[in-house]
Amino acid sequence: MSTAISSVARIAFLASDIIVDSQPTPPATSAFAEKYNALLATSSRRPTVLSVPLAGDPGSSLLRNASGTGLVSFTAASSSQTVIRLVLHAAELSSLALVLHLAVTDDLSDVLLLRSAVPFFLISHTPQEAHDNAVLASRLARTEKKAVVHVFVQGEIGEVREIAEDDVQPLLLAEKLSSVKANGSTNGHSANGANGHTNGVNGTSPSPHSPANDLFTAYESAALSTLSCTHRPCLPLAKTGASEPHTVIFTLGKVPDVEMEGVSFVSVGLLTPLPPSRLLDAAPPSATRVIILEQLHHWNTKWTPLYLDVIDAIHQRQSDPRPHVQSVYFTHPDQITAPSVLKLIQTASSAPSTTPINLGSVSPSPALDAPHVPKHESSYTKILSHLFDERLEISNSPSLVPAQGAVATSPEYALGRVRGQLDQRAELIRSIQELMELKEVDEELHKLLSQWLLVKDDAAKSRALSKQVITALEASKLSNRLVDRILALRAHFPARSRWIIGSDAWSYDLGSSGLHHTIASGLDINILVLDTLPYTSRNSADPHRRKQDVGLYAMNHGDVYVASIAVYSSYAQVLQAFVEADRHKGPSIVLAYLPYQSEESTALEVLKETKLAVDAGYWPLYRWDPVKEQEGKEPFTLDSDAVKNDLQQFLDRQNHLSQLVRSKPQFATELVSSLGENVKEARRRKAQQAYDELLVALDAPPLLVLYASDGGTGEKYAKKLANRGKARGLSATIGTLDSRSIDDLAQEEYVVFVTSVAGQGEPPQNGRTLFKALNAAANRGEKPFSKLRFSVFGLGDSHYWPRPEDAHYYNKPCKDLDARLEQLGGQRFADLGLGDDQDADGPETGYKVWEPLIWKTFGVDSVEVQEAEPDPITNEHIKAASGFLRGTIAEGLEDTSTGALAASDTQLTKFHGIYQQDDRDIRDERQAQGVEPAYSFMIRVRMPGGVCTPDQWLQMDQIADEHGCGTFKITTRATFQFHGVIKRHLKPSIQAINKALLDTLAACGDVNRNVICSAIPTLSKLHKQVYDFAKLTSAHLLPRTTAYHEIWLDKKMVAGEAVKDFEPLYGEFYLPRKFKIAVAVPPTNDVDIFANDLGFIAIVDDHGDLAGFNVTVGGGMGVTHGNKKTYPRLADVIGFCTVEQGPIVAEKVMLTQRDNGNRQERKNARLKYTIDRMGLDVFKAEVESRLGYKLAPARPYTFDRNVDDYGWATGENGEHHVMLYIENGRIQDEPGRDFKTGLREIAKVHKGTFRLTANQHLMLSDIAAEDVPEIKRLLAKYKLDNLSHSALRLSSSACVSFPTCGLAMAESERYLPVLVDKVEKMCEENGLRNDSIVMRMTGCPNGCARPYVAEVAFVGKAPGSYAMLLGGGYYGQRLNKIYREAVSEPEILAILGPMIKRYALERLEGERFGDFVIRAGYIAPTTSGKEWYDRMGGEGEYREVAAA
Ligand SMILES: Cc1cc2nc3c(=O)[nH]c(=O)nc-3n(C[C@H](O)[C@H](O)[C@H](O)COP(=O)(O)O)c2cc1C
Ligand code: SF4
Repeated sequence: MSTAISSVARIAFLASDIIVDSQPTPPATSAFAEKYNALLATSSRRPTVLSVPLAGDPGSSLLRNASGTGLVSFTAASSSQTVIRLVLHAAELSSLALVLHLAVTDDLSDVLLLRSAVPFFLISHTPQEAHDNAVLASRLARTEKKAVVHVFVQGEIGEVREIAEDDVQPLLLAEKLSSVKANGSTNGHSANGANGHTNGVNGTSPSPHSPANDLFTAYESAALSTLSCTHRPCLPLAKTGASEPHTVIFTLGKVPDVEMEGVSFVSVGLLTPLPPSRLLDAAPPSATRVIILEQLHHWNTKWTPLYLDVIDAIHQRQSDPRPHVQSVYFTHPDQITAPSVLKLIQTASSAPSTTPINLGSVSPSPALDAPHVPKHESSYTKILSHLFDERLEISNSPSLVPAQGAVATSPEYALGRVRGQLDQRAELIRSIQELMELKEVDEELHKLLSQWLLVKDDAAKSRALSKQVITALEASKLSNRLVDRILALRAHFPARSRWIIGSDAWSYDLGSSGLHHTIASGLDINILVLDTLPYTSRNSADPHRRKQDVGLYAMNHGDVYVASIAVYSSYAQVLQAFVEADRHKGPSIVLAYLPYQSEESTALEVLKETKLAVDAGYWPLYRWDPVKEQEGKEPFTLDSDAVKNDLQQFLDRQNHLSQLVRSKPQFATELVSSLGENVKEARRRKAQQAYDELLVALDAPPLLVLYASDGGTGEKYAKKLANRGKARGLSATIGTLDSRSIDDLAQEEYVVFVTSVAGQGEPPQNGRTLFKALNAAANRGEKPFSKLRFSVFGLGDSHYWPRPEDAHYYNKPCKDLDARLEQLGGQRFADLGLGDDQDADGPETGYKVWEPLIWKTFGVDSVEVQEAEPDPITNEHIKAASGFLRGTIAEGLEDTSTGALAASDTQLTKFHGIYQQDDRDIRDERQAQGVEPAYSFMIRVRMPGGVCTPDQWLQMDQIADEHGCGTFKITTRATFQFHGVIKRHLKPSIQAINKALLDTLAACGDVNRNVICSAIPTLSKLHKQVYDFAKLTSAHLLPRTTAYHEIWLDKKMVAGEAVKDFEPLYGEFYLPRKFKIAVAVPPTNDVDIFANDLGFIAIVDDHGDLAGFNVTVGGGMGVTHGNKKTYPRLADVIGFCTVEQGPIVAEKVMLTQRDNGNRQERKNARLKYTIDRMGLDVFKAEVESRLGYKLAPARPYTFDRNVDDYGWATGENGEHHVMLYIENGRIQDEPGRDFKTGLREIAKVHKGTFRLTANQHLMLSDIAAEDVPEIKRLLAKYKLDNLSHSALRLSSSACVSFPTCGLAMAESERYLPVLVDKVEKMCEENGLRNDSIVMRMTGCPNGCARPYVAEVAFVGKAPGSYAMLLGGGYYGQRLNKIYREAVSEPEILAILGPMIKRYALERLEGERFGDFVIRAGYIAPTTSGKEWYDRMGGEGEYREVAAA
């Protein structure tokens, strides 16, 4: 038993030299390809099998691959798209030795489009027929060198007697058999008279040499050859039923399985060529009724080709009367039953033969559905509609399909349409010019017309004037054909932005596709070509096919504007390119990257793929504007920052690139990959040299220490080991695992490996390549390490994944490595050592046991180390040696060989508000390419109180565009943060910030950070007082070093080295850790006062004035997963101070911490630990002793919320304020949400201030009553006034995390909105849409978004895995607690679903979610930081047991 597809595929495989197979839309796979793969294993034949994607152009592919000799077969499941693309090339295809095998299900409408386009068209209905016709078609195409369409019905399974493999080729090549030779009876069917009558029958005598007859003769000859081999006839028309019928039914499609008196059925197996004589043979003179029964779902013209052929044949018959001929469609085989056929015969006699009868529910010419546009692609179309609005005309819009047919989306069609439209507009212009010459035209109208002519190319003006011109023309009494003509062409008055949108499939076939004609047309038209192939699948998709670079092709035309864009890489560049393309008076082509696997691909996946492609140079972002070249300017602009980033030689390359572009069309990938090679090679040489030098200095066996570490602990231990080895006289070298290959290791004698764990049992990033290589070598059974002696030490955490079933993740990489090395022939010289974060001393406990084993092997265990072992360099050393925060930053900025700064300088730049980061989305890829990580910097502004002016806002906006990644962020410390600033942009950025009268000094680092204060809208006077206090305190605690001005603002030290910096507050060591201050105004705790090291709670006197502050100390969020010495802590209130005392109180608290904080262990250095170590009373006494007085007793206060008050509010001074919701503080333009542009426009007119909140939202403040309408209008225009989010969303917040934050372990800012979408639904289902639940997420336990005071929080542990915490206080008054140590999204939803439902049903009046989960017994309350770990993991039945 076999299917038609497998039989046809077999013949195609055995008969063809080249097969082009059409791929269905993934994830579906080609059924033909399956058979080809199976045959490759069994058959000796090896045709070339190529595949073409569904969206591709098979016609071009076939033309390209047809070699002139041999047979080409195309196999596909028929679709209108495929058929249309074939039709477009039909003329060229017809003369190729080509078989197009098209599988259909139950509708022949699409394939019939090919019927008149090719010389031969065969149809098979059963698997056996499909097999035989496939043989026949192959033979026919091969001998006649002509295209044969072979359509067959798929789906049915049946007995197929197959031709032997060895017979196929001989049959194709055998000499032609003449049909006459076969005694006038071709195909063995002389008996029933259906075949075999090559001469005049029934009075018709076709000319023996008409082209149709020649083709038919060729068909018969091929059919005869097939018969001789298969012993089965292939019939052009197979007749069954009555021999003297009164009714003949021709069937195309399903053959009715019915027998009826006087009725004969003729199944059509050959549709082209079908000589009339054959048709007449099948419809003898006895027939008074002929029915053409066709299986069609739709047909766009009134009559079908077969009907017309039959009618035509019957009209050639001279006898009268002629039979009644009726066309009938049906859609489903079930419609063809004996009763229905009987009824049909009756109806057909009475129905007028001029109207086809339709048996199905589908009308003869139904509208086609508009093709579905994948949702991701709307990213670009939305921007186009947004930019060009009413002006936008998508000339091949899918919405045209219902009216114009599927061909409406092809480039040729669109080009034709545009050409027509442009011609008509030209005619409109001509007519207007002619009209203006007429005397009858009055002055008013004349003026209007000439005005329109002047602005006809201006989008807005031409549209605006067109209405006036039309009204004036209609109102004028002029009766002239020109007026009629102009009014008839009125649609062309407004200037349009015309776009053709297509897929990258077009770019495979530049030469022959419509794209080429469009580019060459010179018309003012814009083409947007979307490339959706993900970077990571580029090889697997079709490694042999290379897309032609449409961009370069177009550039070579000279007059074409070309841009290459990627919306997920640079939104601004997309806008720029669209606007420039629109302005260009000629063809423009914009290549847009939008990589996605399926409709379900998340934005995050698209984003990552885009980054990889742009960064690797696979998809360079550029713009080519030929007009600039005419103006003598550089026409080529390279916009890819990542590419720029790589080399200081960017400019050289840019020139090189443009030269290259001008001369020959080949660039980009080669260029960028060679860059990777160079850097890699240089590095290798440098490393080799250093290594050689070391070897020379040695005489003892060298010790190589290799480590893999993500967070630095493993690295620290590796360095410690190497240093201690050196101190014992050993020659020790250190490197990362990935710095060595297997070959390198095979040359080594003694190697110690130190590896920690990242993710779930996975090796850290800088060891993964070697791990993979070792595994591969082991799989191949190699034993390269005959010389190698090794020992492994692992750092893990036996509690990181606490579930019993996850226990095997504990220290997995080191255990695996230990076993692998042995398997590869290595010899273990000391047993595996295991360090566990859970041990009393953390990894040190295990290390202390293991290290002596190493020294023993080298015989140096008894060596007395005379000199103290060098201390590892800590941040304390770096600070002290930095010359008051100078280090070698200035020199590092000059070094263009790397995008990074020296490691110690990266610690120092934090004090200057700058963090070095790298793009973690593409870290692996870059490592694989051998280039350094994509370094860039984060810059944080110091802006006390979170207040800035509109001017400052505008400058921040501009800095983000010019120096950053085009977006910026409002942080949880109510300030601005820029990401993606590359090294050479650092200085200009800081200078620009300085020009805006802001700075970045002490925005990060071991100093007092940005002082934040409540953004209260209503109490205007109080806000001013509190804000002034925040500014004053910030200024008071600012470092005094001049390094900042010297390095960034080029202000030289007055007398060089002679003038020494002096830090009166900080000294040369600065603080042990960061220090954070907040000022809150009850009842709003929007700054989360208790999460700060130092807090001031405003206390108001009876006049509403600020009387002073309650002072809080010891709050802090950061912890380290699994390290119980670290915990979050809420601040304690220690007393009251006046406003004047405040800054000095701040100073004394900070200095007490400076002198008492733990400088040995950074993880234990924050004020919260100092206080717990000293005891709150002792700490307070120390502060008071430094103050010289005691703090007054704390005064009463009440908080009731820590979320922002959204919407409009009026201050007591009558000014207005509006709090806007900015999701996670990201200021960016997105399709449909142009917040960045909107806020820029607002900043241009706003006269008050901007207030940034610690919840990452934004308040426009101090708006005068008369300005409110304009602000409201702008807010509405940019959808900034949309507050109709769920209360959950409005109360949620996330830190930045991936891709920029170096500490991130899991997604946060990019993922929380996705999670909120899902949890929000649960809230809505339970009627909690408007109930605020404070939900926060961070990418690591550092806790930047203050997760530990949220009612529910998620803290990243590894990609996709979070610790889940519950039970925080609604207004930040209580810490939450770990409920589950590692949950993924399905688990989060499974936990929250029932919990939220219970909350909705059982909560008490006004009870908050955080309180409820405690009362309901899910989690215990946390009463102090130190008790944070107690009773974690849930309560009672909700408790989850951890691994022992
Ligand atoms: C994201 C992440 C995942 C971890 N996964 C594991 C694990 O699966 N098994 C384990 O034993 N330790 C795990 N750990 C613990 C680390 O291996 C341990 O803390 C180690 O000391 C970190 O070393 P490093 O700073 O060199 O990266 C994980 C730590 C992190 C940060
Ligand atoms: S919480 Fe962690 S991941 Fe998030 S921004 Fe802060 S350091 Fe980065």
